[in-house]
Amino acid sequence: MLGDAVTFRPGPLRGELSVPGDKSISHRALIAGAALAGCGERLHVQNLNPGRDVRATLEALMALGVRIERSGDTAQIAGGRLTTPATTIDCMNSGSTARMLLGVCAGAGIAAVFDGDASLRRRPMEPVAAQLRAFGAKIETEEGRMPVRLLGTPAIETLNFILLSPSAQVKSALLFAGVFSGNAIKIAADAHSRDHTERLLQALGWDVAWDGRTIALGAQPPPVQGERTISVAGDFSSAAFFITAATLTPGSDVIVRDTGVNPSRTGLLDALRRMGAQIELRDERVVCGEPVADVAVTYAPLHGIDVAADLVPRAIDEIPLIAVAAAFARGTTRISGIGELRAKESDRIAAIERLLAAVGIASEAQPKGLTIEGGTPAANGTVVDTHDDHRTAMAAAVLACAAGPIAIDSERSIDVSFPAFLPTLESVRA
Ligand code: S3P
Repeated sequence: MLGDAVTFRPGPLRGELSVPGDKSISHRALIAGAALAGCGERLHVQNLNPGRDVRATLEALMALGVRIERSGDTAQIAGGRLTTPATTIDCMNSGSTARMLLGVCAGAGIAAVFDGDASLRRRPMEPVAAQLRAFGAKIETEEGRMPVRLLGTPAIETLNFILLSPSAQVKSALLFAGVFSGNAIKIAADAHSRDHTERLLQALGWDVAWDGRTIALGAQPPPVQGERTISVAGDFSSAAFFITAATLTPGSDVIVRDTGVNPSRTGLLDALRRMGAQIELRDERVVCGEPVADVAVTYAPLHGIDVAADLVPRAIDEIPLIAVAAAFARGTTRISGIGELRAKESDRIAAIERLLAAVGIASEAQPKGLTIEGGTPAANGTVVDTHDDHRTAMAAAVLACAAGPIAIDSERSIDVSFPAFLPTLESVRA
């Protein structure tokens, strides 16, 4: 567990680093492993994300009867069938755990109560609950929020869905409901949200077809193989902090090794390149169905751009970094279609405003958008309140690289996704 207040210091980044396994893929790998375990198969997962969110999924699956042996960044899902848990499932800070496991349990016909920490209790659960009710699950929420009571799935109602919110977590909940109930599922109206569930299920042998808008999952589980191994790509959302810091800080030159560069995640690269960034993908390859590359970044002066709403699903967790880059860019940056950011681990539009105000940069929030006037951000030990949001804490470190010393109230949230962030940052200090 990390400590409390910390001050980030300025300066360029130079050298090579690698980031932990992707958090989104890690949740899905554990869940897919649980599905395979139900068919008598073992799944070895390498490079599992070491953060608290993935631990929430791992412990929840164990509470549901799945046998998992973990050793460092590897896990073996060794067997077990889903059973009714003895206690409430604690999803901690993890929206992915709550939403995807609701789909898993709805599919498996399991009754369970799900709860989480104060931040997760503020986040909307009605979008996933409503779509799983259409599937046939009986679900009660506390005015659309946690705790959520899943009372079972007495009968399947529908297997054809129109995705009502632009959420990969909700889409994945429906796909896992199909996997765990053994039914074919069709989903329409996806907005090119991250497709890790589709890619992983396909890599493991499920019959899945998708085109960014529609997904069709077949009913058959993969042919029995006994044992399988998958390796999780480096987390693009963790690499994003170093990519952005190197772009903004004169004298920087870094390579982030083995980074997942799935196009449904790399909207940040498109936005930064349009602003003038110098970013190169080297040694592009495919690992377990996921595109991976070494990302080479050098400092470059930036200019403001318009970020349209259709880029947002591909950069949903990196909007604070696009805003930080915009603070250093010449001219105005307008970001549209980011209303969803109000319902993340904290209100991230408010978080961006606090970050930019701390370095003297004006931003104007609209109901679903943000306008930032670039300038010369400068800080001298200003304290930023992170509201216990890991991505705000790490975005403050990026800002400090190029603007001057910035303190945050607490670094404890960082272990949600990237417990070794601070030593990794130190390792590439010039
Ligand atoms: C995630 C999807 C996104 C993202 C979250 C992880 C996932 O959330 O913000 O950090 O793993 O599917 P939404 O599904 O709410 O857009």
